[in-house]
Amino acid sequence: MTADFRKNAHIFVDWMADYLENIDSLSVKSQVTAGEILNQIDTSPPQTSTSMDTIFADFKQIIMPGITHWQHPKFFAYFPSNSSTPSLLAEMLTATLGAQCMSWQTSPAAAELEERVMQWLAKMVGLPDTFHGVIQGGASIATLCALLTAREKYTDFNSNQAGLSQNTKPLVVYCSTQTHSSVLKAVRIAGIGDANLRFIDTDEDYRMDVNKLQRQIQADIKVGLQPLCVIAVLGSTSSGAVDPLLAITKITQQYQLWLHVDAAYAGTALFLSEYKHLLKGIEEVDSFVFNPHKWMFTNFDCSAFFIKDVKALTQTFSVLPEYLRTKEDDEVNNYRDWGIDLGRRFRALKLWFVIRYYGVEQLKSMIRHHIELANELALKIKADKHFEILEPISFNIICFRYINANITDFEVLNQRNKQLLENINKSGELYLTHTELSNKIYLRLVIAQTHVEAHHVEAAWTKIQAETALL
Ligand SMILES: Cc1ncc(COP(=O)(O)O)c(C=O)c1O
Repeated sequence: MTADFRKNAHIFVDWMADYLENIDSLSVKSQVTAGEILNQIDTSPPQTSTSMDTIFADFKQIIMPGITHWQHPKFFAYFPSNSSTPSLLAEMLTATLGAQCMSWQTSPAAAELEERVMQWLAKMVGLPDTFHGVIQGGASIATLCALLTAREKYTDFNSNQAGLSQNTKPLVVYCSTQTHSSVLKAVRIAGIGDANLRFIDTDEDYRMDVNKLQRQIQADIKVGLQPLCVIAVLGSTSSGAVDPLLAITKITQQYQLWLHVDAAYAGTALFLSEYKHLLKGIEEVDSFVFNPHKWMFTNFDCSAFFIKDVKALTQTFSVLPEYLRTKEDDEVNNYRDWGIDLGRRFRALKLWFVIRYYGVEQLKSMIRHHIELANELALKIKADKHFEILEPISFNIICFRYINANITDFEVLNQRNKQLLENINKSGELYLTHTELSNKIYLRLVIAQTHVEAHHVEAAWTKIQAETALL
């Protein structure tokens, strides 16, 4: 059994290294059509054994064409999910150990390493040491955990016991119109309801308007509702907008509300001294999330969730049947009680590998490099009369759109931009996505791949210009 594994593992590792070395030559976005992969996979499971040679050959022939290459240096779509070789190596070990790390006892090293690397990350971001960290599967889950904890704390832990209907006043959550859709999902799951989520307007830079926030809170109190939580975004999904944290803390303090910060993508930029000012007010924040699996070279999934009131968190989530009790329960962190999942992968290992392999200084210079590349490209886009660019540029997120003095119809111009995006992505040479801001369709280009260099960005820009000329 292990002889076969050893042989195949060597073959796979060679394939993995070749893949990473030659990834530049692949079409970034998969070009298959819907159902193309499904139709190649048997409708019934095999009743007998298949050789690994055959399985691997099918992986290459059937699966690979249906893969969009997220580690391609010309992947500029969405937010990245960049990885790195130390992270990959750690994942190999994690998979080999196959440990299920729900409790300290089920793998003490996993629990204790998680505690330590989360302290490292808190230091790297610049969070006060009143915050305690836990790894979650994603920012969506982390935000849901924050909201559920806020709900419990502000209803005297009665919602879990009696159900939400026992609350005399409906709870209300506040976020800006630029907040990620995961907030709406969390509000639904937490039983708060769409009707009690307030999307606060933003200023012209897409930052939450705090005066409107305050007015909305007052209006809700007046009609007998119970404001619960504000979710501030630090690096919005569309354009990287940053809500005015300090001003928001004044309001959350005044009305005694929970304040959660969603820095899912841009949290990594906080390692850099030039962005630390964005954290002004952080002492008054209750919970904070950022995703190493977006811009910190750590394989998906790995989301870093920090919270001050761990007792409230564990009181919200802890359910302890006899079969889960261990004798160390009072002395250790049992991360099963820090969130929704009982079963947990050993995700701290890849963080430990990544942070040690690069060191904080190199991580910072890799992040700075991305931001510099984005600023250089922004200058070129700005100088081209066929494009309009959204300013200021946030971090390494560029939003730009095709313009044409002869096209005055708003919708027609939006359609042209969608067509341009489609044509660019069909080429397979690069991958972009889009967003809508103030009713305008923008192409969105995020430069954050682990191995992206100036020549990749230049080639992408040349292709964008060529496709624009063909419109
Ligand atoms: C600002 C922001 N918050 C939350 C999320 C959700 O992150 P996840 O996919 O880790 O749940 C995203 C995803 O892109 C995001 O951009």
